[in-house]
Amino acid sequence: MKHLRSLFDFTPDDLHAVLELAASLKAETKAGERRDLLPRRTLVQVFEKPSLRTRASFEAAMIQLGGQGLFFTAKDVGLDGRETIEDVARVVGGYADVVTLRTFAQATVDTFAEYAGVPVVNGLSDDYHPCQAITDLLTIREHFGDSVPGRVVYVGDGNNVAKSLALACGMVGLPVTVAAPEGFAMPADFVSRATEVCPSLDVVETADPRAAVADAAVVYTDVWASMGQEAEKDARSKTFADFQVNEDLMSQAPAEAVFLHCLPARRGLEVTDGVMESARSLAFVQAENRMHA
Ligand code: CP
Ligand code: NVA
Repeated sequence: MKHLRSLFDFTPDDLHAVLELAASLKAETKAGERRDLLPRRTLVQVFEKPSLRTRASFEAAMIQLGGQGLFFTAKDVGLDGRETIEDVARVVGGYADVVTLRTFAQATVDTFAEYAGVPVVNGLSDDYHPCQAITDLLTIREHFGDSVPGRVVYVGDGNNVAKSLALACGMVGLPVTVAAPEGFAMPADFVSRATEVCPSLDVVETADPRAAVADAAVVYTDVWASMGQEAEKDARSKTFADFQVNEDLMSQAPAEAVFLHCLPARRGLEVTDGVMESARSLAFVQAENRMHA
């Protein structure tokens, strides 16, 4: 059974195949064509956290491909303690052809994958956001083609998005830099595992965003306080203050460098309005690409 619990479930070939298919599906969708690749198939989505892009893009994609999506909050299905995760997974798996989960604990995704009996896709956990990273590569490739003129430079928290992006870049041979404040770098055990499964991974970690963006083709950021970290928001705003992606930081990057953000954006914190609205920002193309990916 093929799951996408994290990108560690994919080989580079799997990733290339998904990127190829996503690019064709995008071209077809833009031409007004719809392919019945998933006729009468059912996607069940169970989310413990809010979502706009992930939920909507999966549901829209299922409709376009001839299937249908059902959406439940974790409370709706009793994942708040009404039943065990294992029991919910087996019941949901009986109704679904594929399941997408958004969770706090990665272990919930892993347990679902073990018990559901159908493929399980991680639609974001505290640890990983693989669908976002696939989309990010699709967006980078769409903009630059095969020759990306610099590094993918992530500025901010070494979180679920940063880790998935770093691993995805390693799998396609894109060099990646993560500029994070001290204490907020990607966990060392993740970097070792990523380097082990992906020996070609070229990752630089630094606490100097200005130096980091000097050889960027892509400048990427995400929120400073992820879902579940709301109580740390004020403290993190102070810690990350020098890591804002603003016009000044973008001026340190080469002229061809573009800006990406997985969204939602906290304008005025990790990114300014000016950068979000600039011609260099691909954030909304990237959001649309979630559906094609
Ligand atoms: N980027 C992303 O996953 O957005 P949502 O949280 O809105 O799904
Ligand atoms: N790191 C963010 C990503 C949101 C799409 C979070 O987990 O809240």
